[in-house]
Amino acid sequence: MLCYILFVFQTTCLSELPDVAPPLGLVRGQNGSVRCNGRPVHCQPDSGSSCSSKGNSSAEGKGTMPTKVKPWCVGLGICLLFSAVGVGLGVPFALNSSGPSTHQERLEVVRRLLREVPLIDGHNDLPWNVRKFVHNQILHFNFSADLMKVEPWARSNWSHTDLPRLRRGMVGAQFWSAYVPCGAQYLDAVQLTLEQIDLIKRLAELNPDHLTLVTSVKGVQETHRAGRIASLIGVEGGHSLGNSLAVLRTFYSLGARYMTVTHTCDTAWADCSVGDRGATPSPDDRKPGLSDFGKAVVREMNRLGMMVDLSHASVPTMKDALTVSKAPVIFSHSSAFALCNSTRNVPDDVLKLVALNGGIVMVNFYTYFITCNSSASIADVVDHINHIRAVAGLEHVGIGAGYDGINYTPQGLEDVSKYPQLLATLMEDPRWGETEVKQLAGLNLLRVFQEVEQVREKWRLAAVMPVEELIPANYLEGHTDCMYLGS
Ligand SMILES: *[C@@H]1O[C@H](CO)[C@@H](O)[C@H](O)[C@H]1NC(C)=O
Ligand SMILES: *[C@@H]1O[C@H](CO)[C@@H](O)[C@H](O)[C@H]1NC(C)=O
Ligand SMILES: *[C@@H]1O[C@H](CO)[C@@H](O)[C@H](O)[C@H]1NC(C)=O
Ligand SMILES: *[C@@H]1O[C@H](CO)[C@@H](O)[C@H](O)[C@H]1NC(C)=O
Repeated sequence: MLCYILFVFQTTCLSELPDVAPPLGLVRGQNGSVRCNGRPVHCQPDSGSSCSSKGNSSAEGKGTMPTKVKPWCVGLGICLLFSAVGVGLGVPFALNSSGPSTHQERLEVVRRLLREVPLIDGHNDLPWNVRKFVHNQILHFNFSADLMKVEPWARSNWSHTDLPRLRRGMVGAQFWSAYVPCGAQYLDAVQLTLEQIDLIKRLAELNPDHLTLVTSVKGVQETHRAGRIASLIGVEGGHSLGNSLAVLRTFYSLGARYMTVTHTCDTAWADCSVGDRGATPSPDDRKPGLSDFGKAVVREMNRLGMMVDLSHASVPTMKDALTVSKAPVIFSHSSAFALCNSTRNVPDDVLKLVALNGGIVMVNFYTYFITCNSSASIADVVDHINHIRAVAGLEHVGIGAGYDGINYTPQGLEDVSKYPQLLATLMEDPRWGETEVKQLAGLNLLRVFQEVEQVREKWRLAAVMPVEELIPANYLEGHTDCMYLGS
């Protein structure tokens, strides 16, 4: 029973995304069993990370300045005189010392900044919803429409994205997730991933006034200057590789520019966060994170110029990847563990390693990663951004909301149109001037991406060869029923 309740809850941990339209064709039996060569193979059930536990985050109360009454003020006249002088001096001082003073003015500043630098979001799950809702048949899917008025998008709590709202949100670049469920591991994960990559490309081709598929820093910058949204591909989960570095290279050649090392399942070569019991050392922490083959995957990603994404990875996997990677890593959609102890979030010791590595943590808006419960505010998200800034540094924080893959959003950040609201709220704090906001919005990710490209160039010049390592056969034991593996 508890398992069932946990499973239902954990649909909110991205372990399974919604299924509104019935699947086409007969693929899946009642209990997720899949038939293969006449033999029923039971997919390992996905278990989500624990995220319903309460964190210790608290929104900062905004104090009001007490007014001082001077007791030695003898006469009313003198008091009035002092007040008049005070107002006379105070008003111009206030006007001069602060920048924009209203939310509206801060929004204007943010809109100007986002014309200068692209707002880059690290993770959006729209492609999976397109699969579930319209089976990737997008010729009649109008992405320019207000999807809040089109079924089944309108009634889904998992839908937060359409072109009008991306435009209102001034999104400059979006990493679209080529996600396939862990249930496809050792089955058709590679094929499904290829289909999701095809979808992301066709979505851009069908909406050329708004989207341009790009694969480089230069591509992001040029597309942003041209007033379109740079579309990038991120493969979510090492299970998509089918344990093959050839598949990794092929994903890169198709345009994928990051791969999340795991989703909510362990692969044969990397542990996911589901098994984690938090940042405090435990027997789990001695568990190998990345196997030797996993380390080879990271090296090959470095060589290709593909960003290593550690969202969903276990803490030992994070640490192994940070040790092995010669290029900065990313967390495409994770928040701060110190404020909400979901295993999907990044603990402080890892934040410090990310700073040393030159990487970035892109803050997820899912309320269960922000407050560890079903409600959160913009101020709560700001707390996570400020925490990562305080522990890792300003250069290492970004935004990876996770829209379309979450079903609880903070108040005020309900969909992709709301990013400017977040940035304008941040600017209430004098530590967030124009330079700092630009870094958070996109420049930090562009720097990481550029360094990853530079490692690729350096290794190309040094003629570093592709990794040909094969996964040891015993790693696949018990999973080979549906594989050819003949030669
Ligand atoms: C898509 O929706 C937009 C906005 O409602 C509309 O202007 C446009 O004509 C639609 N396109 C198609 C092909 O239906
Ligand atoms: C969507 O979210 C609202 C508010 O949390 C809730 O009342 C409603 O039941 C949800 N709908 C579904 C289909 O889960
Ligand atoms: C989070 O904190 C709660 C309460 O202290 C605890 O019960 C839970 O085990 C913690 N979860 C993790 C992943 O550390
Ligand atoms: C959610 O967590 C926040 C921060 O810990 C807290 O202020 C709020 O009351 C919680 N809300 C619910 C519904 O538990």
